[in-house]
Amino acid sequence: MTINNKFSSKGWTAARLGSLNGNTYVITGATSGTGFEATRLFLSRGAKVLMLNRNAEKSAAVIERLKQEFGQDADVSFIKMDLAVLDSVRQAAAEVLEKVSRIDALICNGAIAQVPRLELTVDGFESQLGVNYFGDFLLCGLLFERIEQSGGHIVVVSSLAYKRGLRRIQFEDLNFEKNYSAWNAYSQSKLALMMFAYELQRRVQTFGKNAQVFVCHPGASRTNLQNSFGMRDRVVWAILKWVVAQPAEKGAWSQVMCATEEGLKQEALYGPTKRGEMVGPVGENNLDPVALDREAAARLWKISEEKTGFRWSL
Ligand SMILES: NC(=O)c1ccc[n+]([C@@H]2O[C@H](COP(=O)([O-])OP(=O)(O)OC[C@H]3O[C@@H](n4cnc5c(N)ncnc54)[C@H](OP(=O)(O)O)[C@@H]3O)[C@@H](O)[C@H]2O)c1
Repeated sequence: MTINNKFSSKGWTAARLGSLNGNTYVITGATSGTGFEATRLFLSRGAKVLMLNRNAEKSAAVIERLKQEFGQDADVSFIKMDLAVLDSVRQAAAEVLEKVSRIDALICNGAIAQVPRLELTVDGFESQLGVNYFGDFLLCGLLFERIEQSGGHIVVVSSLAYKRGLRRIQFEDLNFEKNYSAWNAYSQSKLALMMFAYELQRRVQTFGKNAQVFVCHPGASRTNLQNSFGMRDRVVWAILKWVVAQPAEKGAWSQVMCATEEGLKQEALYGPTKRGEMVGPVGENNLDPVALDREAAARLWKISEEKTGFRWSL
């Protein structure tokens, strides 16, 4: 089904961005790929960007590169945060709250994909579920009040993988200890992230909170995501990405759109709209109802509060 693009046939483009002077964006995983390109776009319009990255060396190099492009006064900095470690997320969130008085958008972009073997995080989560979901669940919770005070947005960056794999949360074995597959575990992590975001939208509405939550994906984009793949998939994607994928900057548009546009539709997915929603004009995608399963979302929320030790007030 084709959905009419509210931003005309070219879809949303960076040309829609006006001045972002005075705005603050907090983004995870900005050392490369779409997170880096989103950061460039925010800085190009005068915003302040606080990156939450796991690698200090890469972050320093990225900041230098950005300052070369946008000048020494470009307001870009980073806080070290490893999404795979809940203590690191708690520490980073505390530093964010000290460092910025407003958050116009938190963009949950950082992730790993298709990890070839079952690996557990220090907190005992399957690695993709830990990095791509539990870390974000906790981070969003810890920063929510500041985002709400700022009338800000939460943007989660998902993947079309959410509707592939098992197409459900494997509650009986969240870690895939009995049936691990790189693809199924990645798909589950992105489905969990979306279920969380739509549940958060509903709770924000119920409690009348001053925040907006949006879900997007970058389609197929030329980034470093394959670094976490197994060797065979890494080689295949390294070649394939030059055939089927779009530049990382275009992959960043959907998240920048969700961070900066007001009044986008709820319970929607935003991303490229052509060639199986992998490339092309950015707009609203077809949303598989699997992500809107309210019973599963409520169950997942409860489990996530228990596993992260964080209770939302919503
Ligand atoms: N590229 C695609 O075709 C595609 C398709 C569907 C969805 N996505 C989604 O797009 C988002 C951006 O990915 P990308 O394609 O731009 O890949 P990328 O270039 O590999 O960027 C991923 C970012 O996440 C960071 N990261 C990884 N593990 C982390 C952790 N434990 N803690 C904190 N940061 C961590 C990476 O940091 P390091 O530099 O330290 O590794 C990097 O900055 C992801 O959510 C991904 O699932 C991408």
